Amino acid sequence: MPRTPIVARTLPALRKALEGLRARKATIGLVPTMGALHDGHVSLVRLAQRRTSKVVVSIFVNPTQFAPTEDFGSYPRTWKSDVAKLTEAGVDLIWNPDAKVMYPEGFATKITTGGPATADLEDRFRPHFFGGVATVVGKLFTQVRPDMAFFGEKDYQQLKVVTRMARDLDLGVKVTGATTVRERDGLAMSSRNVYLSPEDRATAPVLYRAMKETAKRLKAGDSFETAMAGGAAMITAAGFALDYFEARHAESLAPMTSMKDGPVRLLVAARIGKTRLIDNIGV
Ligand code: PAF
Repeated sequence: MPRTPIVARTLPALRKALEGLRARKATIGLVPTMGALHDGHVSLVRLAQRRTSKVVVSIFVNPTQFAPTEDFGSYPRTWKSDVAKLTEAGVDLIWNPDAKVMYPEGFATKITTGGPATADLEDRFRPHFFGGVATVVGKLFTQVRPDMAFFGEKDYQQLKVVTRMARDLDLGVKVTGATTVRERDGLAMSSRNVYLSPEDRATAPVLYRAMKETAKRLKAGDSFETAMAGGAAMITAAGFALDYFEARHAESLAPMTSMKDGPVRLLVAARIGKTRLIDNIGV
């Protein structure tokens, strides 16, 4: 029977648990999450276990990264099944602060993000988002002081923002991205997939198919204009409202118009029914 991980809910409890884990020079891996865990999160835990000796998973639905019009109130909260998954995976410690611990009375400091956070992708549609993410992840890094932290590539711009923040602020954490885990039909795993109606769920894999088709056309030598327009048409024809479908430099996130200018990443955000989905692939 796997042992239930230690659960810390206050900073003194977290520090005490970390002292125990750090004994004998263990390296600490952190997997930050908002709970509602799926196989994508478990794959991050597995990667963390391969790279570090003790793994901490944080579960905190961070209010500051949601706009008032967004789904903070209805975001899935599945504590029991999260703990079961993390127990099964053999995680060492769960850091589960509440909002008063993370943002105590009078909290007044925020990390301001630039560079990849202003690439005109997610930031165009969710201007509040990266400030909230950077502030909470900055706090998680200083609270846990991990050697390494693991983020999914599905939130590709977030991965770049957090990587840059850790570097810019000398946080001493090596940020590592992990390949997106997909359902059998190609849909990227996401805690928000539970919002999809059965019809929308059946349509959702079109996003991945459109990106794959576009990547194939770019590799075959089609112009960016033609290939991207073809991909966008596939997505809208399936019934999505498109926020963006973009070809960007995989590192700088600068717009790309030629395969010669460096590694290309296709990034998409689109809405179907009540659900907004994001995804991306390398070309
Ligand atoms: O990707 C997420 O789940 C969240 O944005 C993160 C990184 C845990 C910060 O709240």
